[in-house]
Amino acid sequence: MRILSGIQPTGDKHLGNLIGALRHYATNQHLGEAFYFIADLHALTLLPDPTELRRATLSTSAMVLAAGVDPERATLFVQSHVAPEHAQMAWVLQCVANMGELNRMTQFKDKTEGKKDGGSVGLFTYPVLQAADIVLYDADHVPVGHDQKQHLELSRNLAQRFNNRYGADTLVVPKPLIAEVGGRVRDLQDPAKKMSTSTGSEKGTVWITDEPAAVLKKFRSAVTDTGNEVRYDPEAKPGIANLLELMHVATGTEISDLEAEFGSGGYGHFKTAAGEAMVAYLEPIRERYLELVGDEAELERILKQGAARAREVAGATLERAIAKTGLLLG
Ligand code: TYM
Repeated sequence: MRILSGIQPTGDKHLGNLIGALRHYATNQHLGEAFYFIADLHALTLLPDPTELRRATLSTSAMVLAAGVDPERATLFVQSHVAPEHAQMAWVLQCVANMGELNRMTQFKDKTEGKKDGGSVGLFTYPVLQAADIVLYDADHVPVGHDQKQHLELSRNLAQRFNNRYGADTLVVPKPLIAEVGGRVRDLQDPAKKMSTSTGSEKGTVWITDEPAAVLKKFRSAVTDTGNEVRYDPEAKPGIANLLELMHVATGTEISDLEAEFGSGGYGHFKTAAGEAMVAYLEPIRERYLELVGDEAELERILKQGAARAREVAGATLERAIAKTGLLLG
């Protein structure tokens, strides 16, 4: 079985990235051969500052490792190190994809809202590159947060359509792995929205590298509701439900047991306990991250080793797929 996922090197990483995705990278690396990559080609769609993109590519790699990915077990690589294969596969899939389905992508709509020029073409075809990332590694399972569900559906459709046109079983049709609990971490100040690097509120976004005091402060000032009962009800009490999910992940205690423990003790007491639990959960990850991010030579060694394996696998899949299309192989 193959597992694959990617994360963009855009700024610092937050609790949504960790709880929704990164921690599952670590657990899933034991289920088969795993590939995790830093999606710098995707990040380019928003034209980041070049120095910042380089910095964030290394720091995001350090974060993936700090979250528990073992480079001797899983392949960690940078997408642009395998750019020819990813770009070629993306082109082939662009010819299979249609405008109508890409026009329905909600992330594209969100990212281009209010933009007079409609955003870059790269941003529009972004989900097709994502599909290429996945099929190149014959990925069976893709651990992601809930916000990637639509992109994963498109990846499945494109793989199936390619196979219908060019031959059954040429591409593996991937399945998303989205956790029931923690698959959508919400902004602590606005539980109607997901926690996000680009659209979140500063006070409602907990960075994995936040100092313990800052984490605690953000949890204590989390927006809840006018009631006073700590109960898991995502519809009626999205703020409290979000905190219960986070505390469950941080402590391993079942949500029903947390409800029993904190149910009538007041929101203040619960929010402090949830914050303290998160500080304890984040502490070893933050420490490992700070150690790793300072050792650029080691990070570069790991990424180089990962690129070699990734190229080997992606190259073979690309050749297999292209041979079916009638394009002459060089
Ligand atoms: P990105 O970089 O935005 O996010 C990385 C991962 O974090 C998850 N995530 C969340 N999960 C729960 N709650 C949240 N608030 C939250 N915010 C982010 C995302 O779902 C993701 O799993 N397009 C992808 C990168 C990508 C990719 C791929 C992923 C490129 N190619 C191929 C899988 C397979 C993205 O922008 O993720």
